[in-house]
Amino acid sequence: MRQTSQISKLTSVSASLAAGLLLAMTSFSGLVSAADPAPAAAPMAETAAKPVVPGKPKVDPAVSEALYSNGDASRGVTACLTCHGPKGQSATATWPKLSAQHAAYTAKQLKNFKDGTRANPVMMGMAATLTEQDMNNISAYLARQPVSQGVAQNKDTIELGQSIYRGGIAAKGVPACAACHSPTGAGIPSQYPRVGGQWAEYNAAQLLAFREGTRKNSSQMTTIATKLSDQEMKAVADYMAGLH
Ligand code: HEC
Ligand code: HEC
Repeated sequence: MRQTSQISKLTSVSASLAAGLLLAMTSFSGLVSAADPAPAAAPMAETAAKPVVPGKPKVDPAVSEALYSNGDASRGVTACLTCHGPKGQSATATWPKLSAQHAAYTAKQLKNFKDGTRANPVMMGMAATLTEQDMNNISAYLARQPVSQGVAQNKDTIELGQSIYRGGIAAKGVPACAACHSPTGAGIPSQYPRVGGQWAEYNAAQLLAFREGTRKNSSQMTTIATKLSDQEMKAVADYMAGLH
């Protein structure tokens, strides 16, 4: 666990360094091209638009927080905070917690709502208003917010939930959830999402969505969910809510 959090700290430090560098470079090339005659400026602007570090999207922290918290009425973007709460720490199980989630995972979900591989009427509408840059900005903002912890509610199913999470169900070929989502539920950047502390109802609803095919953006999770009964889904979802 310690190692994972150190790695993610390192990752976010290098990400913000990269973002700072990008900002510096963009404003510098902006000055240069403003002074240059138009023909010479054109190829430069093109170079500046390309990300310098592959795989690390360019983000603007101030813009991201404002877009998350206030939306942008001029473009029809609803404030995410309305449902997901301040800093992504939603107050009720109706809406998932988004704080401290890996940025690449969050950005992928927003793209998947937009392309329809994750079907949800509310979020498909929200994602349709976002550009790829908005998605990267908001995801980077959310990744930096503190984790919101939760509690398991159902004493009767904790043991079953824990055994599935830690060891899977060998007889049915279900792998241990911990193998990808980590023993603490923090996930493994950037592919495997944080699931610890998330609302049990939301976790269970996602497992069902994978099984029923309304969420078809992960063949790994579809295969796993197909093997789980309703009771097993509820047990492991409740266990994950209390995991930290
Ligand atoms: C009207 C309420 C509402 C608003 C406003 C809203 N969302 Fe959501 N969001 C939801 C619901 C409901 C879900 C669960 C969808 C599902 O079950 O698949 C969700 C799911 C998500 C997820 C998936 C989380 C995960 O763990 O996979 C992300 C990411 C997300 N929303 C981001 C946003 C962003 C960014 C905005 C602002 C542009 C936003 N939402 C605005 C209701 C809302
Ligand atoms: C082989 C790796 C792997 C294993 C094992 C695994 N998962 Fe996942 N899980 C994933 C990936 C990858 C995603 C994200 C899919 C996507 O991109 O949308 C995910 C997503 C999820 C989500 C949705 C999270 C959210 O915020 O919406 C839940 C819930 C979940 N897994 C539960 C489980 C449970 C319960 C188990 C054990 C029975 C398990 N997973 C085992 C890889 C795995």
